[in-house]
Amino acid sequence: MDLIRVHNVKFFFKKLRATRRINTDNNIPLSFFLPFFLSDQTGYASVPGLAYENQGWVTEIEGEIPKEMEGTLLRNGPAMYEREGFIKSYLDGDGMVTSVAVKDGKAYFRNKFVVTEDFDEEERTGKYIKSSIFTAADPRPFAFGQRLFRDLLGGDISKKQNGAYNVINWGGSLCAVDYKKPYALNPDTLETIGHGNCPLSSTTHTSHYRTVTEPDGSRRLVAFINEVNWRVNHKNEDGTEHLGTTNAVFYEFDEDGKEVARRKYPYPSSYVHDLIVTENYYVLFDCPIKIDFKKTFTDYLTQNACLSELICEDTERQPLFRIFPRRGTDMKVRTAPADYWCYAYHHVNGFENDDGDIVFDTCTWDKFTLYFTDITNPNGKDNFPRMKLSRFIIDMKKYEAKHYLLSDVPCELPITSWDYTGEKYEHMYLSTSVGRKDGVNGPMQALTKCSLKTDETKLYAEEQWIPGEHKFAMEPFFVPRPGKDLDEDDGWVVALVHDARYENSDFGGRGTEMVIIDAKKFSEGPVARLRLPKYVPYGVHGSWSSEYIAGPPKPDELARLEELRKNSDGKAPISLGHKDIIQTTSRKEVEELDLRKVGAGIGGALLGITALSEMIGQMGFFQ
Ligand SMILES: [Fe+2]
Repeated sequence: MDLIRVHNVKFFFKKLRATRRINTDNNIPLSFFLPFFLSDQTGYASVPGLAYENQGWVTEIEGEIPKEMEGTLLRNGPAMYEREGFIKSYLDGDGMVTSVAVKDGKAYFRNKFVVTEDFDEEERTGKYIKSSIFTAADPRPFAFGQRLFRDLLGGDISKKQNGAYNVINWGGSLCAVDYKKPYALNPDTLETIGHGNCPLSSTTHTSHYRTVTEPDGSRRLVAFINEVNWRVNHKNEDGTEHLGTTNAVFYEFDEDGKEVARRKYPYPSSYVHDLIVTENYYVLFDCPIKIDFKKTFTDYLTQNACLSELICEDTERQPLFRIFPRRGTDMKVRTAPADYWCYAYHHVNGFENDDGDIVFDTCTWDKFTLYFTDITNPNGKDNFPRMKLSRFIIDMKKYEAKHYLLSDVPCELPITSWDYTGEKYEHMYLSTSVGRKDGVNGPMQALTKCSLKTDETKLYAEEQWIPGEHKFAMEPFFVPRPGKDLDEDDGWVVALVHDARYENSDFGGRGTEMVIIDAKKFSEGPVARLRLPKYVPYGVHGSWSSEYIAGPPKPDELARLEELRKNSDGKAPISLGHKDIIQTTSRKEVEELDLRKVGAGIGGALLGITALSEMIGQMGFFQ
């Protein structure tokens, strides 16, 4: 794809996105009118609203879906971020879960909004009410005063919950996650049920999980949250104090969804996004970030910066690995500084090697940038980071981490076979750019399989598949082939691909396909390409569930659909609403659980700021 051309049009795009309010006299999203040559940017187009929800068999299939493949691709991501001419930043869009249920060589598609309390309220009023994490513009009346007195001085910085960052099916529960309490969804229909009807939707955790196999062969899901409290200083072993305390809380759920372990560790405040789980440890990568106080009291107040832009790179300290014992009575948190300055959002996998050291693979960024800004408004030079595939080996005697560059192909959203989480493994799959020019990442135009022998620090194979011109790969997932004693890479890689020039599009030239690639013949490309009935925006994260859920309607859903058909005018698509939302936890309880509020008043300024930090830390840097 024409990388240079894309970057040349960024200025125009940036200007357009920077416009806070644009009047429009109809309901068509403004981004619909963007020129099609913006290519990769078209995958961020906002969808029109509830009427966009859809379901049906996937009928356009090139190739063949493997007959033995059974399960469900689940994706979540912001889908609608325009109301009444007010444009929110992409990551603040309302979450829409997309599912593709695969069985017997057939696939069933569904997409449905996650109806958070805030989404529900905005649907009723028809406009944005609350401010959001990633959007500088603030829809609240008297926004300057709200930001100064309520947010900063009052410390009440509750932001809109959009339910948009991940979706997981575990232990009989399907949950959509953002940065607060997850939402349980109906696994048959994807309709929002609410908080608290299952253990997974009753605890607040980030959108990143790992599933691991226990020594007895059972499986567990591990989730975590950073509870940051800047009002209590952490006391270091040498008697010094560190500003603020973070409680890293790790939850483990068994195969029935029951919470079977919860470990809480106080440690110096830090910001982390993802986690690695090995047999004996949880490992967090604490990257050097600090609060930009000047920006907090200038650009944030004047709506020239959003909440998350108040964090910036801290070049004065090295990244650290924080290592937490996963078993036994040892609760001591170890720290291992890295010998390489970088930032990392998403980790590949990790394991303990024969020497007892921890091998930690991740996608490193050579500078800190605001992920959400730079993926949607990259200029290719000033602020877009250079991503690389990196391996760290954490010496568990000296507690220091050594960096090894595995590949300089710009990469993100890595995955392995989930059967190998925390264990020695060989293969990883990533969404990657095709260009490797110094300083510039292109858009993610490829999927790449990287392979290396356990304990080695060099790849022995790197295979890339490029979907084609004007096509962009999203987050991949590995689906193991059913059976025992198979090779680690015996299975398929599935991913959604954005097609910026889909000839049969009913949505401004855009389309989405699901690809199924035989992982052992990766560079040969897909064995099946499924044209989804609807365009799906890029999204954030998702998962592959080995359970077949969200398939064709069951009798009760069919009856409700029939009723809707009878009452419709035949023009709008038929979609089940979300009338039966069950909130087993009240909104007040959720807010109290999710955000410790501090006192109001000018005297509370410092506490207000620290509360701000608290929220940024707790949300684990979003998605
Ligand atoms: Fe993430």
